[in-house]
Amino acid sequence: MAADARSEHLSPLQLRTSRRAFPPVPAVCAVTGGTGFVGGRLVEMLVERGARKVRVLDIVPPPKNAWADPRIEYIVGDICDLATVERLVNGVDCVWHNAAAVGPFHPVKLYFKVNHEGTLNVIKACKKAGVKKVVMSSSPSTRFDGSDVDGLTEDAMPKLPQPRYLQTYAETKALGEKAMTDACTDDFMTIAVAPHQVYGPRDNLFLPNLLESCGTNRLRVFGDGRNRICFTHVDNYAHGLIIAERALKPGSPALGKFYIVTDAQTHPHPEGYLYFWDVLEQASLAMGFASIKARTRLPLWLLKILAYICELIGFLTGLKLKLSLFNVRMLTMHRWFDTSAAKRDLGYEPIISFDDGWHDTLLWFKEFWLPSFDAKSGVTGLAEGTQNKIDIQSAGTS
Ligand SMILES: NC(=O)c1ccc[n+]([C@@H]2O[C@H](COP(=O)([O-])OP(=O)(O)OC[C@H]3O[C@@H](n4cnc5c(N)ncnc54)[C@H](O)[C@@H]3O)[C@@H](O)[C@H]2O)c1
Repeated sequence: MAADARSEHLSPLQLRTSRRAFPPVPAVCAVTGGTGFVGGRLVEMLVERGARKVRVLDIVPPPKNAWADPRIEYIVGDICDLATVERLVNGVDCVWHNAAAVGPFHPVKLYFKVNHEGTLNVIKACKKAGVKKVVMSSSPSTRFDGSDVDGLTEDAMPKLPQPRYLQTYAETKALGEKAMTDACTDDFMTIAVAPHQVYGPRDNLFLPNLLESCGTNRLRVFGDGRNRICFTHVDNYAHGLIIAERALKPGSPALGKFYIVTDAQTHPHPEGYLYFWDVLEQASLAMGFASIKARTRLPLWLLKILAYICELIGFLTGLKLKLSLFNVRMLTMHRWFDTSAAKRDLGYEPIISFDDGWHDTLLWFKEFWLPSFDAKSGVTGLAEGTQNKIDIQSAGTS
């Protein structure tokens, strides 16, 4: 296979960006969760940057738009099965541990099993196989305590473990991250890198679900609509994960640390944020849907009452309603970060600017998502692709 071969599923911007020069990567890599949104692009970028072999473990088989390249070996299996993880990591130079039960829609037990116990398996298997480097995907939500995060550094946010977490996802990602970073020594070097609100072509969770709410005319601006948020293009996150491996050397200040990478200074507000409802409005209009801002806004007090009612209905009927107290808080709070630590210690800079990345992503959604959009779906349940994946993940570890 030619060294300059690329996946046929890259967007024009991803293809152009991938042709730039980047530092080399290890010859033999392993990626857990490598058929997911982030993992899929991470695997591709490792190959683009010169990996000879990338071994991928995921409980969900590669989707139709995964790259079929002889340098990529897909293993369908469960990180909760130690023997499978041992097979994955045997003989690799670095593991990118990215598998997780993501989002708020899984059964509670699954989060603990995959995000905590699965991570313990990765640590155990790597130590047994003598793998010296692990880069772990974590989440800023591990540091959320319900208060606004308005441009904070990693050090200015709560430390792990927190006395309580806003959701089980955050709690179990924190358990996994802490186990991984606590295990860091000069012989087993680990680091955690987190994005915030990943977007990009082939996203299966965040944008499809929001756009579905826009297209079914059921979304209103929450509160005053002026909450500040940061986004991370999927290529920027994968780039941050890849260059973090280079910081794993004895004596490095990055050993055992947690870093956040975002679109940083390329956001519409170069301090590192955008107004969430402004970009959602852009997305809705780009799909040919009605303006969200033209509709009556929902005041916070009303949203909270509605969310309580939805949670009660969900509890009584088992239905998965999109409105919850957690979602209300997430869609109204400030959530953006000062990413100067990643720049200083990892040499991180976004490789795709927010403007270019957002424009390219909306074009991709128009071409590949919009034609199959169903205007009748919406209040309950998730975008079809999201639900299918969740079902496979739950079945696999039961
Ligand atoms: N997308 C975001 O905005 C975001 C934000 C913060 C952190 N993250 C982190 O980034 C990573 C990737 O997230 P993503 O957005 O690509 O989500 P994703 O759901 O697309 O990817 C996670 C992958 O892990 C796999 N997986 C789940 N359980 C497994 C198991 N038992 N064994 C093997 N594989 C299993 C899933 O099948 C999936 O392909 C996760 O660790 C997540 O916590 C993502």
